[in-house]
Amino acid sequence: MSALETEIQHTGRRLLAQAGHSRPALYRGLTGALLARVMDAPPLRDSLFQLVDTLPQLRDNADIARHLQAYLDTVPDENRRGWISHLLNLAARPSLGWSVWVFARQLGKRFLCEETEKDLSRLLAELGKVPARVTVDAVGETVLSETEADAYLQRNLALLDWLARQRESQGAPHLSIKLTALTSRFDPLDAEGSRERVLSRLTPLLEAANRHGATLTVDMEHYELKDQILALFLYLVEHYPGNWQPAIALQAYLPDTPADLERVHATALRLGRRLGVRLVKGAYWDQEQAWAAQRDWPAPTLQDKAATDAQYERLTVWLLERSDALHPAIASHNLRSQAVALTHARRLGLGAQHWEAQMLLGMAEPLRAALAAEGVPLRLYVPTGDLSTGIAYLIRRLLENTASSSILRQTYVDGVDQDALLAAPQPLPIEQPTAPNAAPGSVSNLPLLDFSRPDVQARVTAALAEIRTQLPLHYRQAPSMETPATCFSARNPAAPDEVLGYIDLVTPAQADAAVGKAKAAFPAWRDTAVAERCRILRRAADLMVAERHSLAALEVLEEAKPWRDADADVAEAVDFLRYYAAQMEALQGDAPGGWRTTKDFPGESNAWAYAPRGIAVVIAPWNFPLAILCGMTSAALVSGNCALMKPALPALLVAQALHRILLAVGVPPEVLQLLPGDADVGQALVRHPAVNIIAFTGSRQVGLSILQAAHSPAPEQRHIKQVVCEMGGKNAIVVDADADLDDAIAGILASAFGYSGQKCSACSRVIAVEAVHDRLLQRLAEAADSLAWGPPENPANDHGPLITTAARDKALGYIEIGRYEGRQVWQGKVPDLGWYVPPTIFADIQPQHRLAREEIFGPILAVMKAPDFAAALALAQDADYALTGGVYTRLPQHLALARDHYAVGNLYLNRRITGARVGVQPFGGIALSGTGIQAGGPDYLKQFLWSRCVSTNTMRHGFMPTPTP
Ligand code: FDA
Repeated sequence: MSALETEIQHTGRRLLAQAGHSRPALYRGLTGALLARVMDAPPLRDSLFQLVDTLPQLRDNADIARHLQAYLDTVPDENRRGWISHLLNLAARPSLGWSVWVFARQLGKRFLCEETEKDLSRLLAELGKVPARVTVDAVGETVLSETEADAYLQRNLALLDWLARQRESQGAPHLSIKLTALTSRFDPLDAEGSRERVLSRLTPLLEAANRHGATLTVDMEHYELKDQILALFLYLVEHYPGNWQPAIALQAYLPDTPADLERVHATALRLGRRLGVRLVKGAYWDQEQAWAAQRDWPAPTLQDKAATDAQYERLTVWLLERSDALHPAIASHNLRSQAVALTHARRLGLGAQHWEAQMLLGMAEPLRAALAAEGVPLRLYVPTGDLSTGIAYLIRRLLENTASSSILRQTYVDGVDQDALLAAPQPLPIEQPTAPNAAPGSVSNLPLLDFSRPDVQARVTAALAEIRTQLPLHYRQAPSMETPATCFSARNPAAPDEVLGYIDLVTPAQADAAVGKAKAAFPAWRDTAVAERCRILRRAADLMVAERHSLAALEVLEEAKPWRDADADVAEAVDFLRYYAAQMEALQGDAPGGWRTTKDFPGESNAWAYAPRGIAVVIAPWNFPLAILCGMTSAALVSGNCALMKPALPALLVAQALHRILLAVGVPPEVLQLLPGDADVGQALVRHPAVNIIAFTGSRQVGLSILQAAHSPAPEQRHIKQVVCEMGGKNAIVVDADADLDDAIAGILASAFGYSGQKCSACSRVIAVEAVHDRLLQRLAEAADSLAWGPPENPANDHGPLITTAARDKALGYIEIGRYEGRQVWQGKVPDLGWYVPPTIFADIQPQHRLAREEIFGPILAVMKAPDFAAALALAQDADYALTGGVYTRLPQHLALARDHYAVGNLYLNRRITGARVGVQPFGGIALSGTGIQAGGPDYLKQFLWSRCVSTNTMRHGFMPTPTP
């Protein structure tokens, strides 16, 4: 053991000797006994933490008791034996619900201080005895609106003012702030706008901090925002000189952090300004893992706790050695981590002005007393607020105190021995996994682009610029006397005077000729090996991935898709290609010709196989211009059919790109033909007697007319046409009384206004249970106000215009209807130029109103009220459509009720209702939304196939040869 390590061990043992005998308050008394019990029973822990999470939203004793009972019912019997079972059963009596509330409040008070002068003064006096100073943090709900951001600023100004008056005991005031709470739109795609919005609120706070010589520490949040937060911090340091002390928290669980520290240090040296760095391990580890897995992005954090601890130690030393330029705050409750800091601080001869240790209120009190006894300058992080505002913070602390990797649990509950507690961390010698979601054999979805990365943003910017050099694009036919072409001009919906391209439309006669060509090409394509057809699809997917930035850029211009939506559409198209290739292989099986035996008898063999139907007409909409057209077309092709693509007029340029890609990878031109045309062409194709399949996605009116036409055979037609039909929706989100409103509001806004409401999955009705209706409506309107509407080419805009003048006029008409039927509670502002419709929210909509019944396809949201959850669910289902639906509730029975009885194709619980992923959330509805067979699901391809069975008598005068397949 090195001399230094020996010294660390000595320091650690000294600290332990002082700290080890008493337990932190959290682990004592009833709370301690309860926590100890739940740590042994994770299902019990999960259910009680879920209850705590829901509590602020519950109205009365009975409601609390009902939730407690419901959560307990999900816990297996073996986890709730003995005294805890009696206690919890008692608390679950309707008359004793208050006891749960009292207990939770007491628990909350261990970690949070009420934001009143009285409570703060009392706490400061108590902490003065440690002795410790404080940094105060106004904890809050997620900031969803600028009103809420204003409130956050006002709280901080008041806290700063109050702290300035405590200078005698506290020294200069010290605040911890979250930059994301200073604006409701903190988005890496709008870094400049985010900075302006944050600065507009931060300026008065900085002025006050300057007056008082206060320290402002910027808390670090999720990884996706890390670079933006750091950049903004460095901007502040550079552009706001003065008497205030800037500091930032950086997380040791990130491999990026050493480089980030170098940046902070370089800035400090360059400006000659000492900067504070709070070194933490990182509070969002579990969430980062979950989000990375869901998105199939590499996990941004280290995977091994010991690796985090080891990096923490290295960075502690690095910081302490630079304490002339930086002011290190070593923020940890880990005995070993603090022993390392203390040992090195002593070795370097650092005093109170050079560094400090920081801890959270309510955590590791014995260690903080031991550090204070060693003369370590100590600061406690005091979150202020009540249980309602601080619930997310409280849950984080409870999780941290009960996690098996937590040092506090190991020290004070699990009784890990001294040597182990003080042992130097030994990271595992393995590489970081990069794609946690890649299950072997599964078709993984193409991960969406990470727009927090400047290089990714730059590639889309470059792709947009590149396309602009090619405009207008030309898709013209060779001039012909017999069929003079009608030319269609593709326009930019955000700037309708701008023509993006010219495309000649085909005539019904040309469409007829195309069917003839396809008919001739069919036998060869049918007989092309399935393996080859699958290879072609996969090659197309690869080519699309290579072109993903320019394809997305084209959608931004042609369909006015915001960047994220455009990228998601391209990724979905890639997913369809890969998924249907895999599905076709599975349907084909391994046997030659795809023949599978049903049952063989002596003298008789029986086998069946799938066969393609023939010619598929694909009629696709413009709202997912690549994904839907590609999905239906690739399904037709891979199953051996010829495909005639008839895309919607506002999506002809994207369709040309798809056509080019599929031909480039080897689909024969007669097998796949692109027929840009108007409704006459669509009708001619649907009625054509040689067509076998019509794959349609679009409006109910057209869908129903296609079904009718397709099922009225022409005299010379010798088959029944198969119609694959996806239509619209009038989708509702139900918000229950106990819903998490932060989540519900974010989910509603994304679902209702994403791509300006032009998704068939969009939410157009919110049905709120009475108890939560008014509060939801108010926050929803405030939050909607912070969204930006403008040309999607500028990624700072969240939403753009509608697709055509006709779409705009229709939506504007519904706004007039809404004003007559209901009460307009909010309307957004949109630019004058372009086919924009002001997003609008109406309340007091009744079930019989047109706004509650008709599909609008625009940014118009109808809010309805229901007396209770069951009534809300009934209202949600009272529609001609049944495509998507959503429910925000935290009561297990209500989740089960929705799952079992809310009969829509895609039901989303406690999340937004748009954004289905191929193979993960097969998509499509029933009722007048569709036929119930979902795209991107295991049954979809079968619609493009028929199955045939062959029975062979193999007996020859009593002799039975072994059957050949
Ligand atoms: P301990 O030694 O038990 O470490 C627990 C930590 O290890 C986890 O929080 C996680 O970071 C890491 N970990 C757990 N499992 C892991 C695994 N499998 N692989 C890799 N790493 C793993 N946090 C934050 O993100 N932003 C902030 O601004 C702040 N601010 C802050 C201020 C103050 C004063 C304190 C004391 C703490 C913070 N934190 C924070 C919280 C901090 O990041 C951390 O969550 C807790 O302090 C727990 O870490 P300890 O060192 O105390 O405990």
